Amino acid sequence: QQVEPFDYVIFGATGDLTMRKLLPALYNRLRMGQIPDDARIIGTARTDIDRDGYVARAKEALERFIPDDVRSPVLVDRFLGLLHYVTLDGTKADSEWSALSSILSEAPADRIRVYYFATAPQLYGRICENLHSHNLVSPHSRVVLEKPIGTDMATATAINDGVGQYFPENQVYRIDHYLGKETVQNVLALRFANPIMNAVWSAEQIESVQITAAETVGVEGRASYYDTSGAMRDMIQNHLLQVLCLVAMEAPDSLEADTVRNAKLAVLNALRPITDETVASETVRAQYTAGVVGGQSVPGYLEELGQPSNTETYAAVRAWVDTPRWKGVPFYIRTAKRSARKVSEIVIRFRAAPTALFGATPPGNRLVIRIQPNEGVELQLNVKNPALDAYTLRTADLDTTIRMEGGLPFPDSYERLLLDAVRGNPVLFIRRDEVEAAWRWAEPVLKAWSENQVPMQTYSAGSYGPEKSAALLADKGDKWHEDM
Ligand code: BG6
Repeated sequence: QQVEPFDYVIFGATGDLTMRKLLPALYNRLRMGQIPDDARIIGTARTDIDRDGYVARAKEALERFIPDDVRSPVLVDRFLGLLHYVTLDGTKADSEWSALSSILSEAPADRIRVYYFATAPQLYGRICENLHSHNLVSPHSRVVLEKPIGTDMATATAINDGVGQYFPENQVYRIDHYLGKETVQNVLALRFANPIMNAVWSAEQIESVQITAAETVGVEGRASYYDTSGAMRDMIQNHLLQVLCLVAMEAPDSLEADTVRNAKLAVLNALRPITDETVASETVRAQYTAGVVGGQSVPGYLEELGQPSNTETYAAVRAWVDTPRWKGVPFYIRTAKRSARKVSEIVIRFRAAPTALFGATPPGNRLVIRIQPNEGVELQLNVKNPALDAYTLRTADLDTTIRMEGGLPFPDSYERLLLDAVRGNPVLFIRRDEVEAAWRWAEPVLKAWSENQVPMQTYSAGSYGPEKSAALLADKGDKWHEDM
């Protein structure tokens, strides 16, 4: 399914995200036959290089980030042939814009044009203003905004207002790459295409939900960004709340973008506010100290940073969705840098049902949706232990790994999203009111943390997090998944 011819204009085209994610994703879609020959990818950045210089960088990026077995010289050349480059400071209203205008004017006026902002979010408004004043905004153009959309409600509003002055909401695509992950999209299939799941998806059968995104990496070269952000802003306010929405939302009437987004918004609006009274019992924050990750000794966060900091590299929250479906069901959310392993997963713990047949009540079933790695679904059942004649139970897993046919690599989350922006399908992008509802919930936590209402814990790099985080679950008799 080839998309219509398009011009993709990337602001921040020499940056890490473009090289690591955007260009490889577009290459993969070319390989899959979805990109027409006359599409153009126009990189812009302040870096003063020419087209050949940019092509050389792009080629290097593909060599680094595309596995050998799906990287063919013919396809790479075809891809590099789509590239253009314009040296441009998107925030300055000077003559450099004429080079971009002139490239764009070579295409028919009704060609789809996607402006992708992979720059600092404070610049989005200025770039939009310049696009507008150079007559580069048309009903056929859309703008894709990378996160973070702000660091709180006020800054998010400023960014959204800045963009909204020049692009109506239906032309604004706020990307959250977690929504592009196949196994995150699979939550809807799992829930609504399987009556055996749909029938048990509520407080009546579900005791608790865990949503985890842990990484072994530290803050890499991004300490200056990360230290202004922290785990709550970097992962929870966006990615993990979106995952929570898909787990908790009511069945939408269709997969039309606004129908799905309305259903997610309803969940965000139903999140119980965390207040000064509850913040200490519902949240845990921590920083990693030196430790060993994957056999390598690594320094602590503060040593890496070289200065004191009040920024968390671990955050865990006990959230509540105040709807009849989820009455009394805790949603434990956590994320960590420098964790013991890289894993993103959803764990649904079902209630145990008393029965006198086997002595003790058999444990409740558990469903694990592995977002990454080993994308798949695992359902833990109680079975009779074959080693014993007496009716003794043990657990066994129904485990399915979701694979691509023909052993092809799993599509990266950016691939579909980048082309959805061309197709004009915003279903996997975040609407403005969702961003705001997420900030409304996160902001009081961040404020309380900044006032040190919740002590900063520590955890050794390479561990699963601070000891204190177990306390969030303990009063319900729960444990984090790896401790179960
Ligand atoms: C990004 C965060 O949005 O998501 C990073 O800014 C984080 O800090 C990344 O590493 C995690 O994404 P993934 O796809 O590797 O789970």
